[in-house]
Amino acid sequence: MSADMAAFDSVSHLESSGTPGALGGGGSSLSVSSLTAGYDRSPIVHDVSLDVRPGEIVSLVGPNGSGKSTLLKAIVGLVDVMGGRVLLDDADVTGWAPEEIVRAGAGYVPQVDDVFSPLTVRENLEVGGYLLPKGEVAGRIENVLEVFPQLRRMLTRRAAKLSGGERKMLAMGRVLMLQPALVALDEPTANLAPAIAREVLEGHVRHLADIGTSILVVEQRARAVLQISDRTYVLGGGRVVMHGSPDVLASSPEFVESFLGGTRA
Ligand SMILES: Nc1ncnc2c1ncn2[C@@H]1O[C@H](COP(=O)(O)OP(=O)(O)O)[C@@H](O)[C@H]1O
Ligand SMILES: [Mg+2]
Repeated sequence: MSADMAAFDSVSHLESSGTPGALGGGGSSLSVSSLTAGYDRSPIVHDVSLDVRPGEIVSLVGPNGSGKSTLLKAIVGLVDVMGGRVLLDDADVTGWAPEEIVRAGAGYVPQVDDVFSPLTVRENLEVGGYLLPKGEVAGRIENVLEVFPQLRRMLTRRAAKLSGGERKMLAMGRVLMLQPALVALDEPTANLAPAIAREVLEGHVRHLADIGTSILVVEQRARAVLQISDRTYVLGGGRVVMHGSPDVLASSPEFVESFLGGTRA
């Protein structure tokens, strides 16, 4: 396992992210080093290091209970950091309150409770802009509607009435209100039909990256998320056990058996 891990690391570090200047040292949207985090002083995530460069889609896969959600929450300040560092655009945000981390440029879309069901689509976007000066909210909503034009005809609809895919698009639009440099998404396709899941990943998430947003996405659908990922980290027992480009991972028998094979969902 550790030999594999070293191989994945060395291979992946040779690869360009496709983002000009991204490899020139620094310039990471997100840089996590030796992060240990958990609940009530008992660590769940151990010594995790990862980075997301500007405009990259980096995915995080791993079995249930491996600490993926805990890691995302620790990055955005919702779970206690017990060791290590979190840098956002080179600002050290380790231990900052969630709202301060939002201000520093990280948006977070949780797996559930990602929108306010009783509120309309427009009201959800307004809530997403809560840190903006009042006079800027309407203009930002227009910007978000340019990114996700499908939301425009739903503006007066309650979020509770949206389909699963529409709801996830709204959740992404909501965090986009603050123009985050990084968006962390926790299982955006959970409970969606396969065709809708593909649309969320290959349409909405891909589109966010194309407009320059860095993406860290947790997914159960390893095969689908590999299609859109620049790099992927595999978490096991709260630790990074593999890391590499989709091609490299897809050529690992261990990865294929664990995440792409028919034996395991
Ligand atoms: N609020 C919490 N308090 C204590 N333990 C938790 C809490 N949330 C998750 N855990 C534990 O942390 C471990 C990792 O959970 P999680 O990060 O949700 O994994 P994943 O997202 O990979 O399925 C599990 O053992 C889970 O029981
Ligand atoms: Mg989870």
